[in-house]
Amino acid sequence: MTAIEIAQPGGPEVLRPTQRPVPQPGPDEVLVKVAAAGVNRPDILQRKGAYPPPPGASDIPGLEIAGTVVSTGNGVEQLLGRRVCALVAGGGYAEYCVAPAGTCLPVPEVLRLAEAAAMPETLFTVWINLFERGFAADGDVVLVHGGTSGIGTMAIALGNLFGLEVIVTCGSDEKCARAVEIGAAHAINYHETDFVDGVERWTEGRGVAVVLDMVGGDYVARNLKCLGENGRHVSIAVQRGVSAEIPIVDVMRRRLTLTGSTLRPRDVGFKTMIADEIAKTVWPYVEGNRLKPIIDSNFPLADAAAAHARMEAGEHVGKIVLTVG
Ligand SMILES: NC(=O)c1ccc[n+]([C@@H]2O[C@H](COP(=O)([O-])OP(=O)(O)OC[C@H]3O[C@@H](n4cnc5c(N)ncnc54)[C@H](OP(=O)(O)O)[C@@H]3O)[C@@H](O)[C@H]2O)c1
Repeated sequence: MTAIEIAQPGGPEVLRPTQRPVPQPGPDEVLVKVAAAGVNRPDILQRKGAYPPPPGASDIPGLEIAGTVVSTGNGVEQLLGRRVCALVAGGGYAEYCVAPAGTCLPVPEVLRLAEAAAMPETLFTVWINLFERGFAADGDVVLVHGGTSGIGTMAIALGNLFGLEVIVTCGSDEKCARAVEIGAAHAINYHETDFVDGVERWTEGRGVAVVLDMVGGDYVARNLKCLGENGRHVSIAVQRGVSAEIPIVDVMRRRLTLTGSTLRPRDVGFKTMIADEIAKTVWPYVEGNRLKPIIDSNFPLADAAAAHARMEAGEHVGKIVLTVG
């Protein structure tokens, strides 16, 4: 099969089409003929050599796919022939990919495979971090950085479905306008307005219940200022730095919680549990045509380098997708 390998750590040009044997599914796994694979920021970190695949995972990049199940391992024969999308720990940038049956979700007719492929990574990440770790609940106001990112656009969409008021930050007025169009209640251009002031004004001093933070570094202390009493700070990335200095007294005074998580290294059992929750709570909205990913662009699999270059240029809104075949 054709797959995209990372020839060596480096820029987008190190992503090269190559030939690999078709992987074989083990027990409780399926082999998917990939129609499309989502591109995620962690793929870029992996390409640069900064985010190695967890033990046992494919070295081929790609954390989410959609396609048709063409063979199965023992115990999951009922999935043969089904259209699925799946969260995978690697191997998505390829014509065939093995996925745990437990992380597969059925793709309804209302969703194109190229749309379905753009959902698992952001859906699982936002579900785990905003709702489970951050305990976001109906009526909460939340702050999400990177409002037009893959993660940010999914957070806006889920927030709207589950009764949240989502404030976002973005790096330009154009992106702010797009975020509001997509459903953000308020968007702050962080180059022009201190987001701490912006949140204080929007919430009339009450602060937000949750901050979903993909920025880290000096943002953490500023995020804490945005939290109201009992607020939750959830870290999912550290684009501005791995360390933060924070006033502990604020944590005590307002009873704040700091938490965070990384999805990829979690075991299949955990991911299966999340998939089951999503199947019950979120998937009915997908089947009812009320939740779709925001797609920025599609690239053929062979042009994975161009897809990465687009993501690194930072102009995209929503998801970048590789289409296969
Ligand atoms: N922990 C997990 O399990 C997990 C899972 C998936 C993804 N992630 C992380 O989540 C983040 C988003 O992923 P993605 O695939 O959605 O990526 P993406 O679409 O490329 O989005 C990256 C976003 O980061 C924002 N950004 C970059 N530098 C910034 C800065 N210095 N200050 C403020 N905002 C900044 C950009 O916003 P502007 O262009 O508006 O500045 C952009 O919207 C990535 O950092 C990724 O590693 C974590």
